[in-house]
Amino acid sequence: MSENLFHNPHLKFDGKVPSGKVSWQSPSNIALVKYWGKKEVQIPCNPSLSFTLSESKTQTLLEYKPSDEAKNSVQFFLEGEEKPSFAEKIKIWFDLLEPLFPFIKQLDFTIHSKNSFPHSAGIASSASGMSALALCLCSMEKKHFGFSGSDDDFLKKASYVARLGSGSAARSLFGGVVSWGEIENLPGTSNLWGSAQTANIHPDFLSFHDSIIIVDAAQKKVSSRIGHGLMNSNPFAATRFKQAKSNILELITAMKRGDMDKFINITESEALTLHAMMMTSNPYYLLLKPNTLNIIERVFEYRKQTGTPLAFTLDAGPNIHLLYPDAVKSDVHKFIDSELKQFAFQSMVIQDRVGKGPEKLSI
Ligand code: DP6
Repeated sequence: MSENLFHNPHLKFDGKVPSGKVSWQSPSNIALVKYWGKKEVQIPCNPSLSFTLSESKTQTLLEYKPSDEAKNSVQFFLEGEEKPSFAEKIKIWFDLLEPLFPFIKQLDFTIHSKNSFPHSAGIASSASGMSALALCLCSMEKKHFGFSGSDDDFLKKASYVARLGSGSAARSLFGGVVSWGEIENLPGTSNLWGSAQTANIHPDFLSFHDSIIIVDAAQKKVSSRIGHGLMNSNPFAATRFKQAKSNILELITAMKRGDMDKFINITESEALTLHAMMMTSNPYYLLLKPNTLNIIERVFEYRKQTGTPLAFTLDAGPNIHLLYPDAVKSDVHKFIDSELKQFAFQSMVIQDRVGKGPEKLSI
């Protein structure tokens, strides 16, 4: 599949350049099989799989007007506060998007974004933020130039656009279970966009909850961008990429069969492998905190004692995501309150669950 698939020199205003606004809400996602390692430009070294979340989301309003003398400025406000450093990142992404949307250069943009999750939680918002903005750009195309494809084609393009902003954002365009990256034997998968994998998944998995236990809310010391880069010289990288490819197929099969034990085994192994890759990079680094390990130990023990289907996963930080089916929700909440909250930063736990994907907002 060509990287130039969505390049379109015709998406440029001929006459009067319009003003307008568009708004989307898009969710975050939590990876089960982790994307860790990439090639140019935003091509993953292995396919990944995630649950789309429901409550952790970003609402974005994109306002545009004709640019004076092709200045093409971007102003970014997060919860009303101007963030020039975010605007810089978005500008770099927009430059990358110029062959897809040449109209970008004819406009000045003001972006207002707000996250549903608390500022203080230290949760990354790039997947929800970039996917919301990607959808706004695709809606602009549809409004001003028309879009002849289907709704699925629209989301595929938005996923492609989001990927160029942040890899994991490519998975936030669809509800339920989503993959990104080419998977052998799975038609429709691609390195260029995410694909819904929800069909035939056992309903128990689609009712899953994600309780996010905030262990440390400080900004992480090593960014994901640097972490991905360190995989280029990690001595275990090739084996890891191979492992992720077989894990993803095994996990999808387990989720179709309703095999909870297999789900727990692969999901937890993926979380620990991600952090093992950080520890075996050069320079090596460690993002887990003592309380991350305290929680993991308690989860192992609780599962052994009660047999409750409860898995943990981690993203590139110390916070724990607890994943479990709706049927055990009240038991798990009791366990969190009595045993795990003591290890959380300011007792902070964010309750989330598998969600349905993005939504266009009327303005
Ligand atoms: C550990 O998507 O944040 O969360 O493409 O550089 O923006 P960039 O990286 P990013 O990496 C996410 C890494 C991860 C695993 C995952 O979400 O698959």
